[in-house]
Amino acid sequence: MDFSSDTVLAAAARQIEEARADKAKRPSIAGFFDEATNTVSYVVHDPATNVAAIIDSVLDYDAAAGRTSHGSANLIVEYVRKNDLKVEWLIETHAHADHISAAPYLQSELGGKLAIGRDIIRVQDVFGKLFNAGTDFQRDGSQFDRLFDDGETFRLGTIDAIALHVPGHTPADMAFVIGDAAFVGDTIFMPDFGTARADFPGGDARELFRSIRRLLALPEDTRLFLCHDYKAPGRDEYAWETTVGLQRTGNVHVRDGVSEDEFVAMRTARDKTLAMPKLIMPSVQVNIRGGRLPDPEDNGVSYIKIPVNAV
Ligand SMILES: [Fe+2]
Repeated sequence: MDFSSDTVLAAAARQIEEARADKAKRPSIAGFFDEATNTVSYVVHDPATNVAAIIDSVLDYDAAAGRTSHGSANLIVEYVRKNDLKVEWLIETHAHADHISAAPYLQSELGGKLAIGRDIIRVQDVFGKLFNAGTDFQRDGSQFDRLFDDGETFRLGTIDAIALHVPGHTPADMAFVIGDAAFVGDTIFMPDFGTARADFPGGDARELFRSIRRLLALPEDTRLFLCHDYKAPGRDEYAWETTVGLQRTGNVHVRDGVSEDEFVAMRTARDKTLAMPKLIMPSVQVNIRGGRLPDPEDNGVSYIKIPVNAV
């Protein structure tokens, strides 16, 4: 692969190759699947130091009752405690529209810094307007402890990691490459299911295609960990791990040979048939606040707003 025009991707590829050659540079990964929202959360850790990151956690939410609970998050808390892990990062690949993040709860239980992509600021601006949030809602990403730019590096204990900006599903989507494993959020799904939708405010199918092709330029044996799975025709089990090589040969939407225009036509037509995610209003409203509920009103209760006839 010629990376001359993309030095960030070249650095990610080098990191992955080093990790493929040296087991000590590969993280241990546990996936936690939430069947209510089809979301996979990950606990990723460095076996040498037990330093860990939690990626894309889920707060259980009963929309009809307006009630949150911590069953899913507590499975992660138990796993972290049982394995004596030290959580340094609580990472969001993007502001999710289908589930509320449990990152603030996990932070209070386990510690760690909340992180997301820098362009969350753009998402905060769009949805701050949609929800008519007051001036007390900061649109500067300050609800997070760290905003990642494309190519920013960090470490998970002794393991190298790098953030990649992969917009398209939303403007702020990031992928995080930790050792030889790439956590790709909502870009690509299992090869038999395809790709994420690109029709949310700020989404763009053309940008999504370019982001996916960028990820698929990584080494073929790069492990890819997905944010969602919905099974697929002929597959009865949930799955969330695949490789660059398997995506390039078999992804039903973006395998090698599919052109950008073909993808955009397919994605745009398909997105027109999709209903809004059930939890989009509560999820986005809370997730742009770093997973914190809107400030309580004078009776001590937090309210979730629904803009009527606005989307
Ligand atoms: Fe998403």
